[in-house]
Amino acid sequence: MEFEDLYQEIILDHYKHPRNAGEIKRECTSVEHENPVCGDHIKLMVVIDDDGIVQDVKFIGTGCAISMASASMMTEQVIGKSKTEAMKIIREFVEVMRGDESPDALDEHGDLTALKGVVKFPVRVKCATLAWHAMKNALNT
Ligand code: FES
Repeated sequence: MEFEDLYQEIILDHYKHPRNAGEIKRECTSVEHENPVCGDHIKLMVVIDDDGIVQDVKFIGTGCAISMASASMMTEQVIGKSKTEAMKIIREFVEVMRGDESPDALDEHGDLTALKGVVKFPVRVKCATLAWHAMKNALNT
């Protein structure tokens, strides 16, 4: 199997079976973010405990396969992390997408590596970063 096919499969798996999709019913921080290019949006619900650990993240959204797969992957990356660690991975991901950091930096973050190819399609970068900007806003509130 070619790497590109494998990446495609990982992205489709997250799109069709999104991790942490849904709503958090208890008290949480809720943020919404929109992709200005297409109007697609995401609502993110985040629970951070008193020690600053991201306890839970769930999302509901409307968007393309890349945006929803990326949201699913993002939740997996940040749950259980401290706010500082979560911010670090968000910053790293956004820098890769902007072309400021080598795409290979994503290799050590599990399924995120499947999004490396997005960098070659600037118009899709906003799709891939939608949930990540929302998460950054949630951590900053
Ligand atoms: Fe709207 Fe990708 S086309 S988020």
